[in-house]
Amino acid sequence: LKILIINGPNLNLLGTREPGVYGNQSFGDYFSTLQFQFKETELSYFQSNSEGDLITKIQQAEGVFDGIVLNAAAYTHTSVGIGDAIAAISVPVVEVHISNTFARESYRHHSYISKNAVGIIVGFGLKSYELAIKSFL
Ligand code: DQA
Repeated sequence: LKILIINGPNLNLLGTREPGVYGNQSFGDYFSTLQFQFKETELSYFQSNSEGDLITKIQQAEGVFDGIVLNAAAYTHTSVGIGDAIAAISVPVVEVHISNTFARESYRHHSYISKNAVGIIVGFGLKSYELAIKSFL
């Protein structure tokens, strides 16, 4: 099984960015533990701060990956284009968020991703990614 994890803007700063909200582990460290945990799964990782690069990566996943775990970060709440990219491919997408976005500012309560996602995992810290991968197994 080939799973692609995609992280959007500012998630390259995990570990140092607002640790009270997002924890103090870098995604690189956490990705190593995921690879150890899911030995039978071929995990890939992509991060970009650019909306267009995220859209291109989603388009290119068609026919290559069996599933996408997507944390579009702030673009979740703004990007019609990322929502459309998910609708344009047949690869199932699970939306994840580290923080409980519904316990935060109201502008984080709406997502352009959810309508086209197979499911949503919100608020379990980095464990949200583990739970999303498990949903594909
Ligand atoms: C986030 C929540 C978003 O509202 C925020 O803009 C992020 C991260 C999360 O994983 O909790 O950058 O997607």
